[in-house]
Amino acid sequence: MWLTNSSIGRKLIMSITGACLILFLTFHVLMNAVAIVWPTAYNTICQLLGANWYALVASMGLAALFVLHIVYAFILTLQNRKARGNDRYNVTTLPPHVEWSSNNMLVLGIVVVAFLVVHMIQFWAKMQLVEALSHDPATWAVVDGAAANPAMGTLFIHAAFSEVWTPIVYIIGFVALWFHMNHGFWSMFQTAGWNNDTWLPRLKKVACWWTTIVVGLFTIQAVWFTYQAKSGEYINNPELQQQYYEAWDGAMKHMQEEMNTEVNALIAQGLDEAAIQEKVAPKIEAISGVYLKALQVYCKDLPQVKQMLEQIKMQEQMQQMQQQAPMGGGEEIVADSAAVAVDSTNVQSKK
Ligand code: HEM
Repeated sequence: MWLTNSSIGRKLIMSITGACLILFLTFHVLMNAVAIVWPTAYNTICQLLGANWYALVASMGLAALFVLHIVYAFILTLQNRKARGNDRYNVTTLPPHVEWSSNNMLVLGIVVVAFLVVHMIQFWAKMQLVEALSHDPATWAVVDGAAANPAMGTLFIHAAFSEVWTPIVYIIGFVALWFHMNHGFWSMFQTAGWNNDTWLPRLKKVACWWTTIVVGLFTIQAVWFTYQAKSGEYINNPELQQQYYEAWDGAMKHMQEEMNTEVNALIAQGLDEAAIQEKVAPKIEAISGVYLKALQVYCKDLPQVKQMLEQIKMQEQMQQMQQQAPMGGGEEIVADSAAVAVDSTNVQSKK
């Protein structure tokens, strides 16, 4: 096929995939800007996209673009080296107008991919991937010692930018991205044949401006997110705490539905109450433990959470007192803290 067999066809694939990636980055930087001006709206967008089928299809399309772009970059580089033979080692033969980035596109691309691997581990693997695989909060990534709802992007920004090395790695990635994107931007027009003396200088200017704005905004965002993460804004902001609480509420409702389905299936299998209790109780206890911990970390300043935690603390104290000096007949007062947590979710759901 002409598109994959000829040199110009392969360059065209590089250009088209590159153009789509530039559009993605432009969208991405604007989306990150929402996290700066309106963090709760950013989380709502994350919730809407999440692991819904349309977001998964878009992510797969994006991954395909990256893979095509990278594979063809290697093919074209090998092809160029073969054509040039040993000349590539003779740096002094390069024409003076050939830019530094033009000769280092592969290396720059590799640095960008290395950044991307770190970035995907920090965000995508803990957000969309986790959400797509399971609804169970026990499988969620841990941020500041508690399970983080995969739809709450600000928690993952907090986790990533609390690390000292994150802004350093990101800024190295951004420098490589600037050179790579700037060169790739105008050379894709050149590939498409738009390379006359009037248009090429203009396109180079547009490429430089576009790249500088996008990469510059990414850099400002990395600095801002580092500042916010260090100051604990994404954990202490009351509006965000309320949003985390509501997101947990939704997740617990979902878990309750799944648990009901499981119980019904066990009843259908003919298991008696004690056997069902034995199977389900450890799961409820585990989920309640994860839930309570999350409330203590992400929602600690909300009045309803303070009240709930206070109630649990009192019950635990009573339990301890009973164990130390049994009074007799008081067992019914002592509720298991796990059960209280689940009950509290029920109360919240009914509101
Ligand atoms: C300050 C800089 C950046 C921040 C704070 C940031 C943050 C995020 C967040 C929160 C996600 C969402 C993950 C999800 O919902 O699954 C994401 C996804 C992603 N980011 Fe970034 N990002 C930044 C820069 C970049 C750059 C420079 C690139 C590319 C060179 C990039 C490429 C991606 C890709 C490919 C995804 C996956 C998109 C998908 O799920 O389809 N990001 N990023």
